[in-house]
Amino acid sequence: MKLLDGKATAAAIREELKQAVDQRKKEGKKIPHLVAILVGNDGGSLTYVNAKVKACEEIGFESTLIHYDEDISEQELLNKILELNEDDNIDGFIVQLPLPKHIDELKITLAINPLKDVDGFHPENLGKMMLNLPGFLPATPAGILELMKRNGIETEGKDCVVIGRSNIVGMPLSVMLSRNTPTGNCTVTLTHSRTKKLKEKVLNADIVIAAIGKPGFVTADMVKEGAIVIDVGTTRVPDSSKKRGWALKGDVDFENVAPKCAYITPVPGGVGPMTIASLMINTLRSMELRRK
Ligand code: GUN
Repeated sequence: MKLLDGKATAAAIREELKQAVDQRKKEGKKIPHLVAILVGNDGGSLTYVNAKVKACEEIGFESTLIHYDEDISEQELLNKILELNEDDNIDGFIVQLPLPKHIDELKITLAINPLKDVDGFHPENLGKMMLNLPGFLPATPAGILELMKRNGIETEGKDCVVIGRSNIVGMPLSVMLSRNTPTGNCTVTLTHSRTKKLKEKVLNADIVIAAIGKPGFVTADMVKEGAIVIDVGTTRVPDSSKKRGWALKGDVDFENVAPKCAYITPVPGGVGPMTIASLMINTLRSMELRRK
C-alpha cells in the first residue's frame, strides 16, 4: 500500500507557483490577487478559507478575506460580487459554500464573472468542462486528478466508481474522469443514494472515489485488492483525545481499507491540500488569461 500524500504534492505545486510569481515580480508584472468571501462562522468553512489565504501568502499572491456576518442579505452579497467582477485588480474570487439558507447559492454562482470564477462552479465553466474546452475546472476534482497524475497513476481504461453526485465534487469529477484526456479515459460509474447493489459496483472498481460526507462509509469488504482509493470526506467527529474535541474523518474506513489498496489518500493530508493547490493554479491562470 502506498499513501497518496496530498500534503507533499500540494507543497511541490505551491513551490512551482512561488517560482512563477517570483519570475513575474522580477519582470515587474502584476501579482495574482485572490479574494475569498466567507459568510457566517461555520468552523469547517473558516478553516478552509484561512488555509486558502495562507496558501496565497506562502506563494506570494495577494489575497483578501471578506468575512460577512451570517445575516448579510442576498442583495448585499450580490452587490459585492458585482463590484469584484468589475475590479481589475482582482484576478479571481470565491464564495465559500455552503451559504446560509436565506441566500440562493445558484443565484450567487450565476452572478460571478466566469473569467474570475476560479472555483469553476459557474455553469459556463462547467459547460466548457463537459466539452473539453479551456475554462476553470472545479478545484477538488482537478486536485484529485493532479494528485494521481503526479504520483504516476494512469487512469486510461480503468473502471472508476464515484460515490456521491454533488455539484462541486462527484458530478464534475465523473465527467472529468470520462473525458478523452491524459487524466481521463476511465469508464465511470457515478453512484448515489438511489444506486442499487452499491457494494457490488464498488468491488468492481479499479479506482474508488468517496465523496458523500459519511464517515467510514467505505468498508474493507467493499474494496477489491489492489484498488486505488481516494477519500474526499472531511467530517468533524467528536474525539475526546484531541484538545479541540474533534477529529476529521474521511468517508473511508482507512484502518481496514488501506491494507487492501495499491494507493490510498489519508484524511487529513490527502485531497484537502490538493483542492487548495488547484485553486491557486486557477488563480494564476485567471490572471495570465486576462492580462496575457
Ligand atoms: N465548500 C466545499 N468545498 C468548496 C470549494 O472548493 N469551494 C468553495 N467555494 N466552497 C466549498
